[in-house]
Amino acid sequence: MTSTLFSELFLSPAAIVTVKGIILQAMWILIPAMVATGGSGFALAKGRSGRLLESKKKRMPFIALNGLLILLPSAFYLHAKAQAGVFDTSFYAVQVVELVAGAINFWMLSKNMRDGLKLAGRLRPKKASL
Ligand code: HEM
Repeated sequence: MTSTLFSELFLSPAAIVTVKGIILQAMWILIPAMVATGGSGFALAKGRSGRLLESKKKRMPFIALNGLLILLPSAFYLHAKAQAGVFDTSFYAVQVVELVAGAINFWMLSKNMRDGLKLAGRLRPKKASL
């Protein structure tokens, strides 16, 4: 997100193409890492219950669907448009959608991280936290 914003606000079209290409390549790491994090989380949660775990489990379908249905197709679309040198209204419309969806996923992943740290005893649980 920071590379996208920085390149599109301050850098050349060539730099935007490079950033969009790197974002697509990073998917080869990001997607398996997400599957491993979610999968190991579900494995650790076996035989345990509680409010924090339920919240973490409930967020996962939103995180996964947001990633697969919005973020991944947007990354392909924006890369193709940037490579073709077409920075038109639809490029920026999809870019805004991608940034908003990315921010939502970042927020939900942060909440999962916070709840994970509480479960592992590294953060003190708050009584009325969501
Ligand atoms: C992809 C999203 C997720 C992120 C970013 C995440 C993050 C974390 C983090 C940072 C910890 C603390 C690890 C430590 O300090 O030792 C943790 C622990 C934990 N997570 Fe997740 N987690 C995710 C998904 C899940 C899911 C889907 C579950 C299943 C419900 C889950 C269950 C757990 C459990 C049970 C622990 C506690 C492990 C222990 O007892 O030490 N996590 N998580």
